[in-house]
Amino acid sequence: MSAADILARKLGGLKPDVAIVLGSGLGPLAGEVKNPIRIPYADLPGFPKSGVSGHAGEVVAGDFAGRPVLLLAGRAHYYEHGDAAVMRPALEALAGIGIKKLILTNAAGSLHADMPPGSVMLITDHINFSGTNPLFGEQDDRRFVGLTEAYDAGMRAAIEEAANATGTPLSRGVYMWFSGPSFETPAEIRMARVMGADAVGMSTVPEVILARFLGLRVAAASVVTNLAAGMTGGELSHQETKDRAPVGGARLATILKHALGRGL
Ligand code: HPA
Repeated sequence: MSAADILARKLGGLKPDVAIVLGSGLGPLAGEVKNPIRIPYADLPGFPKSGVSGHAGEVVAGDFAGRPVLLLAGRAHYYEHGDAAVMRPALEALAGIGIKKLILTNAAGSLHADMPPGSVMLITDHINFSGTNPLFGEQDDRRFVGLTEAYDAGMRAAIEEAANATGTPLSRGVYMWFSGPSFETPAEIRMARVMGADAVGMSTVPEVILARFLGLRVAAASVVTNLAAGMTGGELSHQETKDRAPVGGARLATILKHALGRGL
């Protein structure tokens, strides 16, 4: 059976049209789903076997803010497998069961001292600085996917509205994808700033490209866990990412709950 068939069968009457990929520190959101149906990635053919600490690996589906939603708790990264399309089977399965909107979340380093750890940044656009693309090798001409409006205007407006309504501070900016897993150098961060980036991270962009290829509407947000390399004098660490993510994560959860409750 395909992953989509297994998912559809396990979900029974639940028909979510929106899915959220939970990045580092957003995991606790899965605990807020009512009457959760939990499906380990291991039971879903093609779903990633994620090994990054701080990332679980299960689908959690149920009622969230009065809305049927499907959460992907745990993602695989390009740097784990050297395969930028590692999330493709999972995203195809979501499209296959009728998901229309995808919300991607991540932890990121900020390029602005006035967007410090704990901030939430709505991604308005991205720069793919990885040198790779998840559609390498794709034969269909649909591979020439347009990314001019990759980050859906309607979904962004709903998220902005929810931030306003809940009084939650929200920044907006351009996310630059570095392959990782090493962090950037201070020189790379200076370059990123000149190129127009506001935050840097190691995920999300390949998923945006795949999701647009599959015809899903996309929104994405970063929780800032640190100022980027060279901005504080200290060294960066994954431990810091995991420790700091819950602060912005809680803010993002507030925004998403409000937005989803109103039809995001
Ligand atoms: N760089 C890349 N990825 C990240 C960072 C960073 O500074 N912080 C959290 N994820």
